[in-house]
Amino acid sequence: MKHLIDPMDFSLKELEDLFELAEDIIENEDDFRHACDHKILSTLFYEPSTRTRFSFEAAMLRLGGQVIGFSEASSSSVMKGESILDTIRTVGSYVDIIALRHSKEGGPKFASQYSPVPLINAGDGGHQHPTQTLTDLLTIRQAKGQISDLTVGLCGDLKFGRTVHSLIKAMSRYENINFVLISPQELQIPEYIKMEIFNKKSIPFAEVERLEDAVERLDILYMTRVQKERFFNEEDYIRLKDSYILNKDKLKLAKKDLSILHPLPRVSEISYEVDDDSRAWYFRQVKYGMYIRMALIMKLLGVM
Ligand code: CP
Repeated sequence: MKHLIDPMDFSLKELEDLFELAEDIIENEDDFRHACDHKILSTLFYEPSTRTRFSFEAAMLRLGGQVIGFSEASSSSVMKGESILDTIRTVGSYVDIIALRHSKEGGPKFASQYSPVPLINAGDGGHQHPTQTLTDLLTIRQAKGQISDLTVGLCGDLKFGRTVHSLIKAMSRYENINFVLISPQELQIPEYIKMEIFNKKSIPFAEVERLEDAVERLDILYMTRVQKERFFNEEDYIRLKDSYILNKDKLKLAKKDLSILHPLPRVSEISYEVDDDSRAWYFRQVKYGMYIRMALIMKLLGVM
């Protein structure tokens, strides 16, 4: 039985197989309508979500399976004091696979040790978001045709942004990736990522504060939201929330074949006027998130 807790849980070969399956589903969706007949997915979301929960649920329904779960723990016996361990053991008795989002870093990893069925980390605090990373990598493959030889700009909240942490970890395994880290001082990438990934693997990276100083050299621009829910005080959030706003003027400086990604939700960091630009990939990215989760569910259930 395999879980997905960390983006490194799959080898490059397993990732390649997963992307090929997702691309097969995109091309031939009808062939997969009954792939998960009689299987049940549970979505246990202790933190709010739109994309991750709905895309998991849509993925399972499109594969012929069914879904049970909660979108907030307040509607479950968690409110009576039930531990995550007992919740997972209980729900795991009813279903075939679980997607778990938790506010505590390491929550899904801990839960997976007691889960009787495959468990997927659907985001844990400011730590990792591996299925977003699968989504991001599939989007980059679709946009660029490969996940190598790219200069990738990561912009916004690089300190608390779990999607950024997971993406750096995953992309560090591909050839010739350069990172440009664009953030205010207070939201810079954590030191452990610099030490354990960039320095250890000799991966080139640069840190800049202004998007205008970096945008012209990027192949991928990965925008992120400044996350109100991760701040300890409102003042800091208000001061930093509008640090970056990508608009048409700034895009004039960018390459013609730049691809703009964003895990979403966005607040103000990408102007709506950018949505019509052919370089905006973030709503295509949303849809790839469903297809890659279809592929992931099939792989973890062993139906493919
Ligand atoms: N990208 C992402 O995780 O979005 P949600 O929080 O809406 O699931």
